[in-house]
Amino acid sequence: MQAFLKALAPVILVILSGCNSIEDKTGGASPDVQAAGTLDFALLSEHLFGPRCLSCHVQYATYTGVRAELEAIAKAVESNRMPKGAPLPGPLKALLRDWIQNGAPEKIGAPPPTAPAELEPTWASVSSQLVHPRCTVCHSPNGQARFLDLSTRQAWFQARDRVFADGTKLLDFENPAASYLIRVVRDETEPMPPVWSNLERLQDAQILVLEEWIRLGLP
Ligand code: HEC
Ligand code: HEC
Repeated sequence: MQAFLKALAPVILVILSGCNSIEDKTGGASPDVQAAGTLDFALLSEHLFGPRCLSCHVQYATYTGVRAELEAIAKAVESNRMPKGAPLPGPLKALLRDWIQNGAPEKIGAPPPTAPAELEPTWASVSSQLVHPRCTVCHSPNGQARFLDLSTRQAWFQARDRVFADGTKLLDFENPAASYLIRVVRDETEPMPPVWSNLERLQDAQILVLEEWIRLGLP
């Protein structure tokens, strides 16, 4: 239920600010949904303490001021005694409740940036980061370039004579840079993915990992 309300908070806030324009200091613009997703003091301040309490309780302008009276605030709001004469609508009460249950944080640390997973010369890595996003739209059994299926590791093995041959030898795992596939990927005029697909080309560093993966024998 809590998680549900939290997920709903931005929606609720947009609705509330939509029908209560007096409170909306930004003059009708919907609150920043990004900010509304973070249940911290800034959010409560913007949507609850600021518009609903400050006119009578200046001390609620700061986090310390609110924190000092947190228990009384919770009780006064739950019992509809406050805001005086104008009890809060259910969703705002729920917001306060959720915030307090979360420990009434002043700030919620920004979620740690999810570092992009490092590209490794393994099928799991190469396929999820390069092959599936950039090749298998077309190179799969139902794609427009199905004549060369690249969607599974098995398929790469099956296509090895075709794509890793360097023109003289049939198969050249040793020297992937010379392989047909890598040359096609690096081709200046007609690269893969094709220019017309608007898919981002592989970067040099990525191609090197792809080569390493081939050199290792498609692990
Ligand atoms: C229109 C003025 C007004 C507004 C708006 C208002 N209060 Fe009050 N508040 C009062 C007054 C006056 C008292 C003193 C006790 C009384 O008269 O009931 C009070 C007392 C309190 C108390 C002391 C404990 C109690 O229950 O009496 C708390 C806590 C409180 N308010 C919280 C809030 C919160 C939280 C808000 C906003 C959500 C809010 N008030 C909005 C006027 C207001
Ligand atoms: C938008 C569709 C599309 C995407 C995405 C795409 N290809 Fe292709 N690919 C084609 C088509 C169509 C051909 C055949 C015509 C041509 O060579 O231009 C082809 C041909 C090839 C060939 C030559 C096959 C042969 O036997 O002649 C290779 C190798 C290749 N692609 C590799 C790749 C790789 C590797 C990727 C991803 C990095 C990729 N392609 C992404 C459409 C695509």
